[in-house]
Amino acid sequence: MDSLQTRHIVLGVSGGVAAYKACELTRLLVKAGYTTQVVMTAAATRFVGPATLQALSGRPVATDQWQPLAANGMDHIELVRAADALVVAPASADCIGKAANGLGDDLLSTLLLARDTIPTLLAPAMNRAMWANASVQRNVQRLRMDGVGIAGPASGEQACGEVGEGRMLEPESILLEIEALFQPKRLAGRRVLITAGPTFEPWDAVRGLTNRSSGKMGWALARAAWEQGAEVTLVAGPTAQATPYGVSTIEVETAREMRDAVQAELKGVDVFIAAAAVADWRPARVEAGKLKKQGDARPPVLELDPNPDILAEVAAQPEAPFCVGFAAEADDLIANAQAKRVRKGVPLLVGNLGPQTFGRDDNACVLIDAQGVLELPRGAKLDLARRILVEIVSRMPSQQS
Ligand code: CTP
Repeated sequence: MDSLQTRHIVLGVSGGVAAYKACELTRLLVKAGYTTQVVMTAAATRFVGPATLQALSGRPVATDQWQPLAANGMDHIELVRAADALVVAPASADCIGKAANGLGDDLLSTLLLARDTIPTLLAPAMNRAMWANASVQRNVQRLRMDGVGIAGPASGEQACGEVGEGRMLEPESILLEIEALFQPKRLAGRRVLITAGPTFEPWDAVRGLTNRSSGKMGWALARAAWEQGAEVTLVAGPTAQATPYGVSTIEVETAREMRDAVQAELKGVDVFIAAAAVADWRPARVEAGKLKKQGDARPPVLELDPNPDILAEVAAQPEAPFCVGFAAEADDLIANAQAKRVRKGVPLLVGNLGPQTFGRDDNACVLIDAQGVLELPRGAKLDLARRILVEIVSRMPSQQS
């Protein structure tokens, strides 16, 4: 699967305070299984020592085209030939300017010139006034038109003490952008809406009904859809998951809040994936304070009302997006999931066994549509999510041959 392939990244580091974050990015790349060749500009070596990046990458760092690593002396060609992706983090205004205008006066800029069709990503980092400068913006625009990816920059506090746009993205986010370089953009221009996690239905000020869903599968689907080029909105019940990168997230608590958020976001949505484990019932009465024990009196009886069925409501709408349901079953997976697909009125349903997926990082599932059953073997939830999206795209009306 995708994440198990060894890919080779050439990581350019140009001069800027954020060069120290290139150390963490290198560590993350190596940990994720990429081989990484670091190339530093002369200015970058003023901010961090090549020895640090050599130790972290496990390879000599290329710093000077006149002291080449390649036997033929042509590092700018040899390094790029071996690369699956070319990443520059941080990318200074100077580096961006050279790349946008075809200038090559050091190893990194000549590498960028020789990049050919290799996926290339720059993570700009500079003072907010420099970033806002018309020439920098013009150069960035030009690079985008040339097919170069621009990751960030983020907003926030800067090394110079100012606050604004220009901070380099955090290394964890740059790693996600790098992973996305290798995913085909099957969902470019598409809107994907996903529900995820459990819901929490309050009973009193401190108690409520919920379930064991961790939200991991919904999060993996949101990330996979973003990687494949979609504009993604995640309607998330209460979980311990961090806010996903690149995805617009709406946090909700109850099933009714989740339904309202979904209905408010539906316009223009191409795919709706209901991965949430929505509570089917909620306490009929929510007590204002905390319910107290009343001496030896019998415990209170919890009366329940049904919650709206979010997926069935969306699927029944006249202009419904392509709807995908999930079924978390305890047994008899295929029969239960087949019946649920028909009951919910959806073209595709992903069935899994609740006890074998809740809280785990891996999962196995079956995909059920009108034609039959496709089994997807156990794997990391992210790999499974990528695979599920391939199956979704192949079934979407305009994609069918
Ligand atoms: N779902 C929903 N709203 C609900 C209940 C479920 O949108 N109120 C969605 C889930 O997100 C999932 C699918 O419907 O995509 C099936 O959820 P599941 O809990 O397995 O099915 P239920 O309809 O609740 O059936 P049961 O609990 O009886 O198996």
